[in-house]
Amino acid sequence: MTPTNTSIIHVIGGGSIGLLFAGRLSPFARVHILSRNGDSIATQFSIESPDGSISTYSLDTEHNPQAGIDWLLVCTKSYDAEKAVNLVSARLSENSRIVLLGNGMGYQQRIATNHPSSKVFVASTTEGANRPQIQGTQPAVTCVRHAGTGNTTIGALHSPPPHSIKQDLLALSALLNKASFDNAISENIVMALWRKLIVNCGINPFTAILNCTNGNILRHPFFLTRIDGLCNELADAAQRAGLAISAEECKKSVRLVAAATQYNRSSMLQDVTQGKLTEIDFINGFICQQGALHGQDYPINRELTTKVKELSPMSPAVPQG
Ligand code: PAF
Repeated sequence: MTPTNTSIIHVIGGGSIGLLFAGRLSPFARVHILSRNGDSIATQFSIESPDGSISTYSLDTEHNPQAGIDWLLVCTKSYDAEKAVNLVSARLSENSRIVLLGNGMGYQQRIATNHPSSKVFVASTTEGANRPQIQGTQPAVTCVRHAGTGNTTIGALHSPPPHSIKQDLLALSALLNKASFDNAISENIVMALWRKLIVNCGINPFTAILNCTNGNILRHPFFLTRIDGLCNELADAAQRAGLAISAEECKKSVRLVAAATQYNRSSMLQDVTQGKLTEIDFINGFICQQGALHGQDYPINRELTTKVKELSPMSPAVPQG
């Protein structure tokens, strides 16, 4: 079954990425947005494309808010993802597909373990979206800026994936193609998540601590004196998880992405400047937790985690394991 005609897509998490996916998918599927407490909400918003063109979307509430969920796109911050899935757990069945679109690592496996009858997918995206900071009177309609086109890697957390899951992945990929999201299916999504995690570990905390754009970290002594040690730690943690990557490769990826996105204000810097909780526990903090599992200390990841936590509100305790 493709998600295009008979299925309904529920998007939980109405941040920039959630609205970007909800809006762009809505001409090709029935899309409903769920609020933080799991209720379906009517939402009007506009998306400004990288070329400056603006599209407006108006999504209705659903007719039957108790009905089972076919596709659940979880676009919350990593620390809210488990709570978000639990909120709608009464509507999930063995036919439900949960697609996790957040940054960081640690929570995906816990959701798969806690919802064994649903199919759990991960979508790791480099699409860049934000809400423009507007001074003075706020516009009546929420505006999302699609700051940069990226790509989305999708995969299943089931290994090896049964036939029906492969069909679901093909259907999801086809839908993303219709909505012009460049995407690819990965046979090993956990390794794809590790590769993205390494980049986030090497960029996000530095931008938050130094209060600068991604490109500006590359010349800063605080970055230059830590990047080699950090990449040794990241390669060690990744290798223990089964990803054959060297410290040199980690460094190359961090430098490449920071240069390619040089004018971006990273998601972590945006969280810090807006006084929000950051995802540090699921990024460098996750590396520290992985180290602890192997009796290994990663002092640079630990230092970056501590410094970022000093800049943002208290994080809730992260469940271990
Ligand atoms: O979290 C982010 O902001 C992004 O993943 C990245 C790649 C660091 C670009 O800003």
